[in-house]
Amino acid sequence: MRSLRKPVNPSMLDKASLKLLAEALERLDSGFAELPEFTGHVPAESRIAGVLGGVADRLKDNYPYFHPLYAGQMLKPPHPVARLAYGLAQWINPNNHALDGGRATSAMEKEAVAGIAAMFGWREHLGHLCGGGTMANLEALWVAGQLAPGKRILASSQAHYTHGRISGVLQLPFAGVDCDARGRMDVAKLREVVARGGVGAVVVTMGTTATGAVDPLAEILELREKHGFRVHADAAYGGYFGLAGNLAAETRREIDLLGQVDSVVIDPHKHGLQPYGCGCVLFRDPSVGRLYKHDSPYTYFSSQELHLGEISL
Ligand SMILES: Cc1ncc(COP(=O)(O)O)c(C=O)c1O
Repeated sequence: MRSLRKPVNPSMLDKASLKLLAEALERLDSGFAELPEFTGHVPAESRIAGVLGGVADRLKDNYPYFHPLYAGQMLKPPHPVARLAYGLAQWINPNNHALDGGRATSAMEKEAVAGIAAMFGWREHLGHLCGGGTMANLEALWVAGQLAPGKRILASSQAHYTHGRISGVLQLPFAGVDCDARGRMDVAKLREVVARGGVGAVVVTMGTTATGAVDPLAEILELREKHGFRVHADAAYGGYFGLAGNLAAETRREIDLLGQVDSVVIDPHKHGLQPYGCGCVLFRDPSVGRLYKHDSPYTYFSSQELHLGEISL
């Protein structure tokens, strides 16, 4: 097979921006200058270099997701600013579970989530970042199950395979709905299934993993009016389609309806150009926060508002 490699460009990867990280690190460091001195215990540079060099060598075996000619998977490296900011935060390694675990980063997470919610026109919302789409969908379906215990979850046959599995974990009955020839949920089939009753939530996939197909949200929302089930949008992959200026009119219409669903999952680590793992779950009705209430003795409840550890699984 002809090799596409032409070893003429010694610098495929951006390294110039590393100096910006060093500068930002100096700036971060200055914020802690008043602390008592201590002797650092960073392992010898030679040992770190040995491990790092070994990792770099092994990483060469990964596919070059960064290359514009690579189109094999949805993976791509994060935006440089996301990569550097993520790196910067590693010097602290905050945990936003409780405010004491990440004061500044909790505020940043809330800002980021509010920015994502604004993409759907939501000023009021409840939501947070998490490890990825599967965890985010687990949480959305957990809420659906809490609100309609024992009722069925439906998703199309092209929905991400984890919806069936998640329903199993949550011990909620699950059924697949056939798709049309374009890989979108077949609304006629859905109508038949919901007419039998007992449906708690319909998962609408806004951008299927296999083909990027967008389910017919408008018609599914009409069915919700009649049958009262929850609509959960799995927009893990396609949620950012809305920012594109060149969507087909039909897709634009469906994507623009996302603000009307009950919950939405969108993955910043996919088209949001963030590092893995970063998913986001959002609820239109913030009062679902009541379902999360807990009073664990190892969580610090130091604010009046629900903090991020009180609104996540
Ligand atoms: C539509 C959809 N939902 C859920 C997921 C699961 O996301 P994650 O791999 O971040 O858990 C994916 C992943 O490709 C997806 O495409």
